[in-house]
Amino acid sequence: IAAAVAGVHAQDFPGSKTITMVVPFAAGGPTDRVARDLAEALRKPLGGATIVVDNVPGAGSSIGAAKVARAAPDGYTLLLNHIGMSTIPTLVRNVPFKVETDFEYLGIVNDVPMTLISRPTMAANNYKELSAWIAANKGKINLGNAGVGSASHLCGLLFQSATKTEMTPVPYKGTAPAITDLMGGQIDLLCDQTTNTSPQIEAKKVKAFAVTTSKRLTTPLLKDLPTLQEAGLKDFQVTIWHGLYAPKGTPPAIAKKLNEALKTALKDPEFIRKQEGLGAVVASDGRIEPEGHKKFVQAEIAKWSPIIKAAGVYAD
Ligand code: MLT
Repeated sequence: IAAAVAGVHAQDFPGSKTITMVVPFAAGGPTDRVARDLAEALRKPLGGATIVVDNVPGAGSSIGAAKVARAAPDGYTLLLNHIGMSTIPTLVRNVPFKVETDFEYLGIVNDVPMTLISRPTMAANNYKELSAWIAANKGKINLGNAGVGSASHLCGLLFQSATKTEMTPVPYKGTAPAITDLMGGQIDLLCDQTTNTSPQIEAKKVKAFAVTTSKRLTTPLLKDLPTLQEAGLKDFQVTIWHGLYAPKGTPPAIAKKLNEALKTALKDPEFIRKQEGLGAVVASDGRIEPEGHKKFVQAEIAKWSPIIKAAGVYAD
């Protein structure tokens, strides 16, 4: 009976009830950008549903993720989160949920490169000069991030480890406030996703030095930036992926409907245009299926845990 009822319920899901998409970082940042573009692209495949974004920042995305983990498993509360789902288990203590068992996995959304950027007043004009500046200013460098466990924090860990330079971490509720302070010169460096940094690089409000991907990017704005590997940081490679989740126990018929809607949204030309314009690559491989998504997150947890522990000196 319950399955039948759930089945009937799934048929008219979501109906006129509002869906809340929790974003575990401040409004205006890269995660928020992906969420709002995705919410727009999900409306039609979900029958004109109303989807509102709820920014619940803090603790490297684990506060927002915890809110969704304990929400009613009815399909009306979703989580849009990034690589933090694979770093939280290693970096954030006393998390009130288990990434691998407390969520339904609804599919991966995209992959986003990161850029190493500085305040506009930085004298260096290329990575070589920046590297010299870093070496000459050990102990005086402020490096922004969005809290322990965030993408910018992970990139910052790896960057400090690769340059053997400990920097002062300056945490924010997201990289929207972080990049604002960078533009104002309050902090020196930030490693952040192109979905957030592209407009500010274009406006010359920050200086860009390199990208974190293994290959150079192809967007006109960023194609001339070297990779950090080219710049001499061996094996440096960080790409930020985003996934969609519901609370564990969401009826399978509803989870399936949400995954189908996601796959339709990922083929939406407008969604692809917006995302690619900001350097993101919309997902189209096996990770857009729930089982592919879950396997990928499990592999990422296994990948990042030893890397973080090796770089761990700067974890707090
Ligand atoms: C954001 O949306 O603010 C970023 O994802 C924060 C981060 O993870 O660096």
